[in-house]
Amino acid sequence: MLLSVLPLLLSVANAFAPPGSSSPSRYIGDEGLQYLHKNFPTEKYLAIDDPNGLLQPILIPRVPDTDGIREVQKFITDFVSTQTYSEGEVPGWDVQLDVFQEDTPIKENVTFTNILVKRDPPNAKKGHTGYITIAAHYDTLIKPEGFVGAIDSAVPCALMLYTIKAIDEAITRKWKEMKAEPDRFSEHEKTTGIQFLFFDGEEAFHSWSDTDSTYGSRHLAQLMDQTYNEVNSARQTWLAEMEYLVLLDLIGHKDTYIPSFFRNTHWQYEVFASLEQRIRDIGLSARMDEKETIFTEGKPAFFRGAVIGDDHLPFLHRGVPVLHLIPSHFPPVWHKIDDNAKNLHFPDISEWGLLTSSFVANQLRVGDWIVDYPDANEMREQREKEEKAQREQAQKKKIPNGKKVPRAARRRGAML
Ligand SMILES: *[C@@H]1O[C@H](CO)[C@@H](O)[C@H](O)[C@H]1NC(C)=O
Ligand SMILES: [Zn+2]
Repeated sequence: MLLSVLPLLLSVANAFAPPGSSSPSRYIGDEGLQYLHKNFPTEKYLAIDDPNGLLQPILIPRVPDTDGIREVQKFITDFVSTQTYSEGEVPGWDVQLDVFQEDTPIKENVTFTNILVKRDPPNAKKGHTGYITIAAHYDTLIKPEGFVGAIDSAVPCALMLYTIKAIDEAITRKWKEMKAEPDRFSEHEKTTGIQFLFFDGEEAFHSWSDTDSTYGSRHLAQLMDQTYNEVNSARQTWLAEMEYLVLLDLIGHKDTYIPSFFRNTHWQYEVFASLEQRIRDIGLSARMDEKETIFTEGKPAFFRGAVIGDDHLPFLHRGVPVLHLIPSHFPPVWHKIDDNAKNLHFPDISEWGLLTSSFVANQLRVGDWIVDYPDANEMREQREKEEKAQREQAQKKKIPNGKKVPRAARRRGAML
């Protein structure tokens, strides 16, 4: 009996590991890592104090339904909608807003807004595409007053924007080829897209409970679960289009360690661990002086399961595989006024920038399209100037009370 069961167990275990080569991060080579590091310098995009970077504009109080969060919402949507490298040739980034009202223990009828940023492979069919999904929350705690939630979760949001920036060109290059010569690519590649979710209302207004917390993720998970695609779609609901969810939280502090929480996403955990090791091995790591690595590679893991309340739960409880990237233990500044720019550790943020962008590149298998070409940086600088001008232009048109639909969402007519 035991003998007949054992091979079955083995084959199930193997099904979770990527086939072929033993390295879980084999879809991005050392050159790809080097070019990401060189062409998208974290010093430029993720500097803690640079108003032109992606992090500093988010480091303000962002309580749901206040001017602060509306400002950040606009920053995120404006940024994403100007990442237009691909416009017209293959589908670009699509921005949608999920806006809803809910009562909280201290205030009635609070407006919450989840931001969904999505990119489809060429010729994608609705209901037949799976999305690798990366998420974080962009609201902050209401107390202590002035709380800016640097690790919670300004840094994770900035990391998502950085990742969009860093992989955009590679995705475009690959998907243009895919559009022209679909037969060269696998079914998996042709039906896999990428999605970033910015949740509103993760924090409790009064004290954490099932109903006073995770307002945005609860709403979105339910909405996606109840929205059906056409009969005979490969993926019956919007929720079923989620391949798996990677949730980033409490990142940017020194000396953090990320455990593997769930057995069914341990292979994605191993991708991060393997990338971290390679980044160290080829000398690109910004945090070599820290004693411990962020991930543990190749060791048997103790899976803690769903012991932490966070935005993953509404998806986990509906069967979505979750990779929860949250340190254990929580950094000491957690939910204190000290969770601010001063207590962030740039080398860690920098490492995470390379980790998240290379993870997505690996999972989308665009590693070979991250290339260096002679005038790449010049072209990029020119494009960034144009993007910045567009954003400044947009900035002049203030959103009154969060009512106006951002340009990108209007253009694509894609309000939820
Ligand atoms: C709740 O707020 C929304 C948006 O501000 C408004 O349209 C709606 O009428 C409000 N509902 C109630 C019951 O006050
Ligand atoms: Zn928090």
